[in-house]
Amino acid sequence: MNKPKVLITRNIFAEDIERIKEVAEVDLWVEELPPPREALLEKSKGISGILCLITDDIDREFMDNVGPKLKVISQIAVGYNNIDIAEATRRRIPVGYTPDVLTHTTADFAFALLMATARLVVPGYNAVQNGLWKTWHPLHFLGQDVYGSTLGIVGMGRIGFEMARRSIGFNMNVVYYDINRRKDLEDEIRMKYVSFDELLETSDFVSIHVDLNPITRNMFDDDQFTQMKESSVIINAARGPIIDHMALYRALKENKIYAAGLDVTDPEPIPSNHPLLGLDNCLIVPHIASASVATRKAMSKLATTNLINGLMDRPLSTCVNLEING
Ligand code: GLV
Repeated sequence: MNKPKVLITRNIFAEDIERIKEVAEVDLWVEELPPPREALLEKSKGISGILCLITDDIDREFMDNVGPKLKVISQIAVGYNNIDIAEATRRRIPVGYTPDVLTHTTADFAFALLMATARLVVPGYNAVQNGLWKTWHPLHFLGQDVYGSTLGIVGMGRIGFEMARRSIGFNMNVVYYDINRRKDLEDEIRMKYVSFDELLETSDFVSIHVDLNPITRNMFDDDQFTQMKESSVIINAARGPIIDHMALYRALKENKIYAAGLDVTDPEPIPSNHPLLGLDNCLIVPHIASASVATRKAMSKLATTNLINGLMDRPLSTCVNLEING
């Protein structure tokens, strides 16, 4: 019997590609950059499964183009705003994703961004590199204290909760906002459920952990930055479009807030002439919060298992549209 065809849209760990090859005929996109739209459509015609990334648009046109054989979409990420889930569900195509395995690594990184941004690690590094370290000065490189400050978490999901847990060692007061109050989690650590407005007004650090959807798109605009403290820092390791970037630029430039630490931008990559790149108080890194060796291996393995299960008509281990899983 012919093996089903699958497309893998970027190199993953070799052992996982070997596992997939045991059950499927693999077309692997080996380039560093994502397949351009035409290549993605061309290569996916007639496939039974795809292992894809957040940089691939898996929409209705894509699914129409693949045709009726498509049995599984396996994304190597916890976020899936690039996939039309309603359309996949309507066609009874299970969509895999990679939650849990990246939670700690991502929360660690969000906390690293918070520390680095509050305490001017990168401006300090740059000053040393550029020969600008002349002396110890009482008024140079004055950051914001982390210990004992208030951390406002927007989105109390898995990663938001782990961010809260990390703050305990720094004796931070945690407030959070989510569309659902998480009393179950409030029993585990001391944190207070507040309105979005109260969170903005009282937090020293605002850390974003919601997914991107029509409600959270541009959730942070001029009004929100105006509500925040002048000494506050915003951290985003979720999705770029949750923040209106020109509003953020204005807020940072006019010192309405102290600093921003961004793992994600809108668009990605952020163009090298974007005004945010000219600001000392905006630390931007290239969407690497889940990028540790162990975590990326775990994500690759889980996405591979989901792909293979889908090809074999078995339930996916971690499925977005659970109602049609298996
Ligand atoms: C990365 O952004 C992910 O969603 O896993």
